[in-house]
Amino acid sequence: MSKQTQIRRKTVRDIASAKGQQPLVVLTAYDAPTAELLDPHCDVLLVGDSVGMVVHGLETPVGVTMEMMILHGQAVMRGSKQAFVVVDMPFGSYETNADTAFENAARIMKETGCQAVKLESGAYAAHQIAHLVERGVPVMGHVGLRPQAINVTGGFKAQGRNDTERKRVIEEARAAEQAGAFAIVIEGVAEDLAEEITQSVACPTIGIGASATCDGQVLVTPDMLGIFDWTPKFVRKYHDLRTEITKAVETYAADVRARRFPDKAETYKLTKQ
Ligand code: KIV
Repeated sequence: MSKQTQIRRKTVRDIASAKGQQPLVVLTAYDAPTAELLDPHCDVLLVGDSVGMVVHGLETPVGVTMEMMILHGQAVMRGSKQAFVVVDMPFGSYETNADTAFENAARIMKETGCQAVKLESGAYAAHQIAHLVERGVPVMGHVGLRPQAINVTGGFKAQGRNDTERKRVIEEARAAEQAGAFAIVIEGVAEDLAEEITQSVACPTIGIGASATCDGQVLVTPDMLGIFDWTPKFVRKYHDLRTEITKAVETYAADVRARRFPDKAETYKLTKQ
């Protein structure tokens, strides 16, 4: 490919320097054809561990494995050209100690070719983030509602609802930033808390259910496309793919049963050679 036609993939600098600029556009992606459709419109494609719930039918992301993240990360890298691709580190792959975190992050980066990893950054995680960044792994933090911690918090609940919780979330975000995170996802917090965090860290914040005060927004793609009946309050459904798919499959089933599919144009003819 000649240099002129080569499409440049966004780098960590492009993302980290977006603070105060145009809001960052982030969507989750888990497979190659969807990544190809999202790629021209997004700054970042996040291979989130939400894949466990929205693709594999798990009730929480706790059961997601390294192998699942790597497989989906590889597919998204194949389908995308210009977006910065971040792969989530699954539950249990980084909490124990910094060395394990590095081994698993390095494996994700080597086997997928992604540009960065994301980890849910409770207070304990600052050490891991610094260790990874020093060794060449860009890290995106994740504070507020942390889906991997729902067995401790008691469910998918908005965070920062009292002074103690608020203080904790702010400290976690600052610790992630000071440890070297290039961006931080803020999930499920009220607008004033998201604004305070966004103003108190130098790196961009990316909100999901965290108001327009963040430096960017992320949504889980199947949620915003309307694949599910139920979605959280903060999701805007940009399409009703559930109804569209149901209609298409109903029509196909009726056509097959009535022998309307396939027709002549959809059938091979034997041509003599
Ligand atoms: O796993 C995921 O999709 C995420 C987003 C919700 C930010 O972490």
